[in-house]
Amino acid sequence: MPNPSEIRVFTNLSEVATCAGPPREADGADPAAAGRGFAVAVRGGVVEEVGPEAEVVSGFPGAERIDCAGGVLTPGLVDSHTHAVFGRYRVDEYALRCQGVPYMEIARRGGGINASVRDLRSRSEDELVETALPRLREMLACGTTTAEVKSGYGLDTESELKTLRAIGRLNALQPIELVPTFLGGHEFPPEHRDSEASRERYVDLLVEEMIPAVAEAGLARFCDVFMEPGVFDRRQTERVLRAGLDHGLRPKLHADELEGSGGAELAAELGAASADHLGDVSQAGIRALASSSTVATLLPGTLFFLGRPKFAPARALLDAGATVAIATDFNPGSCPSPNLHFTMTAACSRMGMSPAEALRAATAGGAAALELADGRGTLFPGAPADLVLWRASSAAEIPYRLAAPLVAGVWKAGERVA
Ligand code: NIG
Ligand code: FE
Repeated sequence: MPNPSEIRVFTNLSEVATCAGPPREADGADPAAAGRGFAVAVRGGVVEEVGPEAEVVSGFPGAERIDCAGGVLTPGLVDSHTHAVFGRYRVDEYALRCQGVPYMEIARRGGGINASVRDLRSRSEDELVETALPRLREMLACGTTTAEVKSGYGLDTESELKTLRAIGRLNALQPIELVPTFLGGHEFPPEHRDSEASRERYVDLLVEEMIPAVAEAGLARFCDVFMEPGVFDRRQTERVLRAGLDHGLRPKLHADELEGSGGAELAAELGAASADHLGDVSQAGIRALASSSTVATLLPGTLFFLGRPKFAPARALLDAGATVAIATDFNPGSCPSPNLHFTMTAACSRMGMSPAEALRAATAGGAAALELADGRGTLFPGAPADLVLWRASSAAEIPYRLAAPLVAGVWKAGERVA
């Protein structure tokens, strides 16, 4: 815990990106950004003041001074959709995909999510913790200070509980705050794939056994389902998410990722925290999200990595008034990247978002998708002092510098962690 009397003042900044209020679209500039000459004071893990440098410095005599060398200070990134706990990477599938074999075809041949399921089931909880720790360090080095992590490579009660327990332990072992999501509805496991009746029995298992066990153990905040043709259909998805709601798990949804199937509409109808992916969302889905509080979480790194030509309609969602988040989807199959900075670039270059919109979607948008209402993802007095210092001379330069190692420092609750 930070010492509450400890005050730090960040000076010599080219820009402080506060990530609140509507971004200006024409020039990409952020009207909520405090310009050159602003400083930030942090006390006891919380942002205390953002203001002109001379005022902040004189207001906190004796505070520790952090010279930011002309860089940009932003809120810590909030990666609201990851599958960061898994066994091995699936490098072998990548070679196949580069030859043109589609993602869903690899899954049909026994690869894909179920390859990770066989792998994860064979590992102990300790092993899962050990394999995930370096990945979380990579995420931190990219500027992520809060991350959602899903289960979903266990797909039986014990393996799902093992994964969620590993996430809980990882939360205490490293600086990124982890928000756990139960994704037992990620796929049908090998033992429940041979008939419709057997698939239905898996849905029964989710509803009658897994969700009550997860909720009872207090291991997850959200319940998520991969609703997609060939995976969970609308009726099954709704059954699982309603059972989650009955047990206090807020719904999230992998919706309309590759083929639109009404996922966004269902997410809005259920009051889900977020509808994620949306690569093929319909016009009705866009309208449904815009008129609800469900966040549209876009994962352009995935569609990039899968080599898909079409990206989610970020512009249409933003223009319709939806709250938009972007996240990595970090997982061993469709996006093995922990780098939300890269995702910001993909959001701008492939989805027409402005640099200010992309930064906001990776911070305040992510916090909204995780229903974190403590000011997370913004840089205002009262918000947690989760901060990233970037070697850049404006916030707009961050997505522009494609995959460059710009992170100069990371602070979690006021303490330097990278
Ligand atoms: O979000 N869409 C489903 N799940 C992941 C992929 C997981 C995997 O391939 O291991 C996703 O893209
Ligand atoms: Fe995902």
